[in-house]
Amino acid sequence: MSAERKLPWIIKYRPKRIAEVVNQEDAKAKFVEWLKKWPNVSKRAVLLYGPPGCGKTSLVEAAAHEFGYELVEMNASDFRRKSDIERVAKRAASAHSLFGAKKKIVLLDEVDGIAGREDAGGLEAILQLIKTAGAPIVMTANDPWDTRLKPLRDVSEMIQFRRLSKHDVMKVLRRICENEGLVCEEQALEYIAERSEGDLRAAINDLQAIGEGFGKVTLDLARAMLRPRDREHDPFETLRNLFSARYAWQAKMALTQSQLDYEQAKLWLLENIANQYSDPEDLARAYDALSKADVYLGRIIKSNDWDLLAYAIDMMTAGVAMAAQNNPKDKYRWVKYSFPQKLLLLSKTKEVRAIRDDIARVIASHLHTSTAIVKSEVIPFLHVIFTTNPRYAAKLAIGLGLSEKMIELLAGPAKSEVLKYYREYKQQMESIARKEAEEVTQLKSQLQVYAEAGKEKEKRESKTKRKEKTATDLTAFFRKR
Ligand SMILES: Nc1ncnc2c1ncn2[C@@H]1O[C@H](COP(=O)(O)OP(=O)(O)O)[C@@H](O)[C@H]1O
Ligand SMILES: [Mg+2]
Repeated sequence: MSAERKLPWIIKYRPKRIAEVVNQEDAKAKFVEWLKKWPNVSKRAVLLYGPPGCGKTSLVEAAAHEFGYELVEMNASDFRRKSDIERVAKRAASAHSLFGAKKKIVLLDEVDGIAGREDAGGLEAILQLIKTAGAPIVMTANDPWDTRLKPLRDVSEMIQFRRLSKHDVMKVLRRICENEGLVCEEQALEYIAERSEGDLRAAINDLQAIGEGFGKVTLDLARAMLRPRDREHDPFETLRNLFSARYAWQAKMALTQSQLDYEQAKLWLLENIANQYSDPEDLARAYDALSKADVYLGRIIKSNDWDLLAYAIDMMTAGVAMAAQNNPKDKYRWVKYSFPQKLLLLSKTKEVRAIRDDIARVIASHLHTSTAIVKSEVIPFLHVIFTTNPRYAAKLAIGLGLSEKMIELLAGPAKSEVLKYYREYKQQMESIARKEAEEVTQLKSQLQVYAEAGKEKEKRESKTKRKEKTATDLTAFFRKR
């Protein structure tokens, strides 16, 4: 296989010129205008947004190529540390200081990746970069509407990309087929395009998988090769695929396609290895692989070294799948898998997490801040108060409107004491309120008495008045006579 053939088609067929970016005319015009005017623009950055695989990154690359910019590119995974962004800022700034240096565009690809993170350091650094950089800053995002991205939206020209139509996708696929000399059935292209839901990256990858694998692209092949997208395997399917994998990549794929994350998968494996394998040495090998994965996962959490994740996943997938050496037939045995006991226990800690989230929400609304800040900054502080100063804690709890469950969580070992004061205060408050209510009722009944008396008087008065009137009427009557 030549190197040329191995090149992913999404790279090989990436637009080299702006004109090759299909069906994004509005976005292209807006972007080019902004770029040509820079730095005489109202917003120093642009944010290109739209669904995946519709040409956002491609447009930036094509424009850089066409207009002779050097592209200083960064991916979401690099935004984690402030120092990385500062390094990019320096590279971008060098455009002005170096004689003859190429002008530059800084591309921060998929900035929405930072929205989910707790630390705001990356975001701060990007804002700083936008403010000071001597080069245009271009950002891309699938979903730019997360509240945490608001500061970026505020300083950026927003340029929307459209979801590509089935027609657009087919047009590009057809062109690639021609270029590769592939025989393609129109219906196959339609099938691939439909399934891609406008994601050209996915469609091109599918086309390449079939085209390179079979030398032609037919509807039958497309149907057979491409399973419906977005259907994740349940835990039972995952285990079956993982144990029965003949190659390491198949075992890894089982986890990739699963609903289970690796922590959950670890527990399902722990529970079920002994159901699948029977030979003692096979069992030992499988458990050994799983425990290594567990050690790596633990280290990742402690050291934040995510490079270890690949080893952990290899161990728990391929390591477990390749363990059945003495009795390989066990791999294909039909087994009724059992639900991990540990997960049943965990559903209880889930409750704890839910209460913690509730506390954060209640307090955040009082303090007008985010739940993330409450969790990281306020709750630890409350923990201290609740464990050391139960009276004060009880008053706070009442003031904040916390429930008894929330108090228990915050007070931990001191919970009975805090709850005692809490109930006492609450009772006091209630008795005060009750007393006040009683006074009010008394006052009301007093008033009622006055009111009744007044009514009586009125009645009496009107009665006498009526009597008087009758009397005068009668006298008048008799007088006439
Ligand atoms: N509008 C488009 N015109 C031409 N090719 C496109 C278009 N959108 C996507 N592609 C193709 O799909 C691949 C992924 O596109 P990319 O620009 O990276 O998508 P994203 O919008 O997610 O940044 C590119 O390599 C390119 O070949
Ligand atoms: Mg992209």
